[in-house]
Amino acid sequence: MAEILGGVFTSHVPAIGGAIAKGLQKDDYWRPFFDGFPAISEWLSEKKPDIAVVFYNDHGLNFFLDKMPTFAVGAAPQYDNADEGWGLPVCHSLKGAPEFSWHLIEHLVGADFDITTCQKMLVDHAVMVPFQLLWPDAKEWPVRVVPIAINTVQHPLPSPSRCLALGHAVHDAIEEWEGDERVVVVGTGGLSHQLDGERAGFLNKDYDKFCLDSLGPSPEALIKDTSLDIIEKAGSQGIEILNWIAARGAVGGRVVEKSRNYHIPISNTAAASLLLERV
Ligand code: DHB
Ligand code: FE
Repeated sequence: MAEILGGVFTSHVPAIGGAIAKGLQKDDYWRPFFDGFPAISEWLSEKKPDIAVVFYNDHGLNFFLDKMPTFAVGAAPQYDNADEGWGLPVCHSLKGAPEFSWHLIEHLVGADFDITTCQKMLVDHAVMVPFQLLWPDAKEWPVRVVPIAINTVQHPLPSPSRCLALGHAVHDAIEEWEGDERVVVVGTGGLSHQLDGERAGFLNKDYDKFCLDSLGPSPEALIKDTSLDIIEKAGSQGIEILNWIAARGAVGGRVVEKSRNYHIPISNTAAASLLLERV
């Protein structure tokens, strides 16, 4: 049986990738954000996961508005990054875990999740920025990856409760896997932010705190709202919390909070990181 080690949750703002490329981690603007990561990186080097299951949203690199799956699961031997236009260096590719992916997919379809399967899939800043934060010194990424993309972009969006249920189904599938791989679950995006429209720049500290306080002990508190309610509370891109909710479901069971950081703003975003270890 595969072992689920815990969940790592982080914002994925592209400007973070720019700061890493320019070595600005210790600058006054960036330090309060980057300070959240040594504890997580150390935990990862101690726990040594083999596989990362990453819940994220694609921002137009792999899926555009003409074709937008609600839930898409990668089943590729390799995932490439590409230029999204943010001026970021293209990161080296991630290794897939196709047999493990197909096991998850079989389980999810068996549990009535009508997912899209991707044997070719580019991964954008929502995967690559977190990887650079979690493994800052990696010459080669030390984990194989299963990317799971949730549509947080094109309405209608999935509901928070459906995302939590997706996560629970992924949890069950991981636990049924016969290999002895060590698995870390990653959720990316958020917290509150809105990039567009009249409310551009909108942030909500109180709602963010509620999310950070609830995710570990009581994720059900986060699914009482609809996705539209969350957009009102967290901004139109704050709905990326759906990725965190699904990831929390995939971690499953009881967790202990090992690390938390919250800093406003990074670019337009209330930026956070959280480490929840399985107990
Ligand atoms: C920003 C935040 C995001 O989540 C994203 O995907 C792109 C940009 C920002 O705050 O600049
Ligand atoms: Fe985003």
